[in-house]
Amino acid sequence: MTAQAEKEVAQRLARLRDEINYHAYRYYVLDDPVISDAAYDALFRELQTLEAAHPELVTPDSPTQRIAAAPLDRFEKVQHPIPMLSLDNAFNRDEIYAWHDRVRRLLSPGVRPAYVVEPKVDGLAVALTYDGGSLVRGATRGDGVVGEEITANLKTIKAIPLKIPLATSPAPLSPPARIEVRGEVFMPLVQFEELNKRQAERGERTFANPRNAAAGSVRQLDASITAQRPLSFYAYAVGYLEDSHLLHSQWETLHYLRDLGFPVAPDVRRFEDLDEAIAYAENWLASRDRLSYQADGVVIKVDQFALQDELGVVGKAPRWAIAFKLAEHEGVTRLRYIGVNVGRTGVLTPYALLEPVQIGGVTVSQATLHNEDYIHERDIRAGDVVTVKRAGEVIPQVLGPIKELRTGQEQVWQMPTHCPACGEPVVHPAGEVAVYCVNAGCPAQLIRRVEHFAARGAMDIQGLGEKVAALLVNQGLVHDIADLYYLQAENLLELEGFAQKRVDNLLGAIEASKTRPLDRLIYALGIRHVGDTVATLLTHHYRALDDLMAASEGALQNIPGLGPEIASSIVSFFAHETNRRVIEKLKRAGVRTQREARDVPAEARELPLAGKTFVITGTLPGLTRQQATELIERFGGRVTDSVSRNTTYLVVGEAPGSKLEKARKLGVAIVDVDGLRKLAGF
Ligand code: IVH
Repeated sequence: MTAQAEKEVAQRLARLRDEINYHAYRYYVLDDPVISDAAYDALFRELQTLEAAHPELVTPDSPTQRIAAAPLDRFEKVQHPIPMLSLDNAFNRDEIYAWHDRVRRLLSPGVRPAYVVEPKVDGLAVALTYDGGSLVRGATRGDGVVGEEITANLKTIKAIPLKIPLATSPAPLSPPARIEVRGEVFMPLVQFEELNKRQAERGERTFANPRNAAAGSVRQLDASITAQRPLSFYAYAVGYLEDSHLLHSQWETLHYLRDLGFPVAPDVRRFEDLDEAIAYAENWLASRDRLSYQADGVVIKVDQFALQDELGVVGKAPRWAIAFKLAEHEGVTRLRYIGVNVGRTGVLTPYALLEPVQIGGVTVSQATLHNEDYIHERDIRAGDVVTVKRAGEVIPQVLGPIKELRTGQEQVWQMPTHCPACGEPVVHPAGEVAVYCVNAGCPAQLIRRVEHFAARGAMDIQGLGEKVAALLVNQGLVHDIADLYYLQAENLLELEGFAQKRVDNLLGAIEASKTRPLDRLIYALGIRHVGDTVATLLTHHYRALDDLMAASEGALQNIPGLGPEIASSIVSFFAHETNRRVIEKLKRAGVRTQREARDVPAEARELPLAGKTFVITGTLPGLTRQQATELIERFGGRVTDSVSRNTTYLVVGEAPGSKLEKARKLGVAIVDVDGLRKLAGF
């Protein structure tokens, strides 16, 4: 090849790499791609082909080199040129003020620090060294002084630039001679859940949380495994910089990192006033459930480097920063006994009876164990000392045993072969995790069915909760849900705790429930896979329960939004003689089974949102989620919880969650409230 030709190839290669780097940056860092995946793939393939023909022109920072290395036997140890520190924690305002008092005391009088607040991403801290703009080394934090060299693994993470600055960088920056960038490798929540699902399907180990998943993925000796793991990265510090005079503050650093092409968490803020910083932090912490990644708090840092230097470090933690965390809602206690609940559909769910323990100010004595696989995967045994987690309002869950504390007395648990409530043999359908009691007369299922029937959102019978449902079933007053409408005052008066007033109230509430809209009744029946949304959708197509009962599986499947599984579940529910008898009994009692004009407008099919499926994320200005859902349904649309390929629109409000990211990845159309109003024409 002539020198001229060679030069041209080299130029083309350089241009291709710049372009690919830019598009990877748009996609992985900004989450805002400008070309299609196919176009990106075409560029990538061209680069691969050209490099294959000219192996001498391959550079280590070429995008093709993200997955190149052969598996290692072990990781090399590396010493960090500047130690990687950890952080002290504060769990409330008072602890922040205490930290701040010390900051003020140590600084010269009159000096007013500014503060940077950053998310504390829950992943794995790493240090990335770039020489002349090329990534040459990546290391874990390790003990802060010595870490492990995991360059090949980190190169597979597309949010980590192999070359800085981007050729197309907005700011005209030259590459620093040498820089060490620090940040957190993490696994976004949606991807974490998908990974766990895939792992479980393949019979491989699942991860307890996104942090373990990130750490486990990054510390693979075979980088090709890391490459398959959906990892991401946020940069938050510069460890070492040859021209260190360039940067004077944390805030400048974050901007510099962004300008170089690193992803920086979007929620970083700078404040002159500590109380404002705290207020922002508290707000942010309160809504962290909306994030697409797991955060275990925020970090508040004194902004100015000069002041940071004055404050210095004690032990392993700097005095100039503090991690502000929500109190850990985890506790440790003994698992006394593993019991099994029987749900409305007959699913057997194991739960843990615990020695009572205070977790985040609440006494916890029961926790869910999800299912049989969950228990066996974690090897949870009766008698184990276990960690228990309580997150917000959700049911506490057992995370796993502390095996070091075993005495040998612990009992391995087996799913019962017979229903603990009725004694009938249980069934384990092939391919399902769950085990079922299929006895239609099982009292435990009946109690749950009555409870569900009476619940808010269903027939809304006040005063009929779990306890009363159990009482009615166990005393033999209720054998099916329709019996509720035939209860007699004199029988109820004999029940413990039921005086005349309570009986009147209960009977009144039952009477009032007879006129609930048809969709509520359909939902209340407790048909498998028929939640409130599907129930509403059904009433758009059927005016009466009788019509729905007569519907064929084919007809049901033709309804946009109804899949074969739901259709078959509905048909088999109504095919059941017992269920038909119950419905007859409901009708005889005077329960409304017809759609009324005010329930649904005219013909649902002609409505502007008919056939469209919506998912809502974030806070919608001026509308509660309930109102938005009702509006969408009133105009013929359907609202579901999670984004999939079947989603027509994602409605985005303020502080959207991970759904936005997912919708973008799947190419789902995104609208705001105004967009929604336009679609619906209201
Ligand atoms: S600053 C100078 N900033 O938290 C103090 N750390 O407990 C050291 N982390 O090992 C780090 N997000 O893994 C800092 N925005 C952030 C962070 C952050 C997460 C982690 C990091 C570190 C640990 C310290």
